[in-house]
Amino acid sequence: MPKNNQQPPLILSIDTSCDETAAAVTLGRVVLSNIIASQAEIHSEYGGVFPDLAKLAHQENIEPVIAAALKRAGISWEQLDALAVTIGPGLAPALEIGIEAAVNFSQKFNKPLIGVNHLEAHLLSILASRNKRPFKIKQGQANTKNKTKIKEKSLRIPEWKLKQLNQADFFPALGLIVSGGHSEFVLIKKIGQYQVLGQTVDDAAGEALDKVGRMINLGYPAGPVLEKLAKKGNPAAFDFPLPMTTIKNYNLSYSGLKTAALRQVRLLENNNQLNRQAVFDFAASFQQIVVRHLTYKLKSLLSDLQPQYQFTQLWLGGGVAANLELRKQLRQTLKLFSIKLHTPFEKRLCGDNAAMIGIAAGFKHQANLSLTPDQTDRRPNWSVEQSWEI
Ligand code: KG4
Ligand code: ZN
Repeated sequence: MPKNNQQPPLILSIDTSCDETAAAVTLGRVVLSNIIASQAEIHSEYGGVFPDLAKLAHQENIEPVIAAALKRAGISWEQLDALAVTIGPGLAPALEIGIEAAVNFSQKFNKPLIGVNHLEAHLLSILASRNKRPFKIKQGQANTKNKTKIKEKSLRIPEWKLKQLNQADFFPALGLIVSGGHSEFVLIKKIGQYQVLGQTVDDAAGEALDKVGRMINLGYPAGPVLEKLAKKGNPAAFDFPLPMTTIKNYNLSYSGLKTAALRQVRLLENNNQLNRQAVFDFAASFQQIVVRHLTYKLKSLLSDLQPQYQFTQLWLGGGVAANLELRKQLRQTLKLFSIKLHTPFEKRLCGDNAAMIGIAAGFKHQANLSLTPDQTDRRPNWSVEQSWEI
């Protein structure tokens, strides 16, 4: 039970859904610490995430990452109101490690455990707020008693606008998740009520960038590298076909583009034309089509649904949300409909992290939604629509 419904809950959260071992401490929407141990190097030679290796790395990293999150925030186990963990969607062997740790610690310290949907967390990551009042111990105050006293005081940040948020006039908002595993347009009726309006029928946007990047040996994840190379290239150099233009829905598809990209790379290789400039041009052109596909479908969705929903905000989350070209082109499309783009306050909050899990968990904590021991099973395919159905 929350101590006081007006006070933001202090939550330690964990995410091991894919290839980052992450732990964070949040106070309501305020991020006090956000530790991420990336496994990118481990998976780089496979060009994607290798589930068994991910599990091993999570096992190794989980406890140090949790300890670092608490230390960075200056919080003890006793001070926490609750623990939170991603229970899906994600890689089953990877999810298992975070859940196991969360269950153990919640029992050991007798704290409620909140189960979070990773996709809901990506959607809500734009709500994260900077810790504007970092806690500092003044000279001569560094004894434990004073520390606890000052800490308690500094935690009373008047940031918690949960009730206002749930009644806010910006609902419904439109959500867009673009990550390595998912690409979906989501109707956010209010916090906890989601409806998928369109989603990829095959690969996710990030997955396509990673796979195509691998064709030109960019390592893993290739998305950020491709963005860098694209800056030096001509986005009109190679002509990729815009997918799904004759189908009247808001779904996405990236597998056809992947095949077209492979054909293009082979052609360049066979003609000995895959030089530096060709790589830049290829990166720019592929990034351009990935973004155009999203803005095309967004425009089509808004042309149909804006009269009904009168959206004023689009909430963008997921690893690919870090891409500046995507943000720029989304803004251009949204401007036509007088909609504002909202992105997380730092790029670190776009990719997988646990602070976003803590923020989503804060809302569930407020609604007294915690897991019972029989609900801690991992849910590798959990839909965002069912986020609050536990
Ligand atoms: O959200 P995330 O960390 O993991 C999943 O939940 O899947 O997203 C990872 C994806 C990868 O495909 C990565 O290539 C992509 O996000 N990504 C980017 C950028 N940064 C990360 N794609 C394009 N531009 C970026 N700057
Ligand atoms: Zn993710």
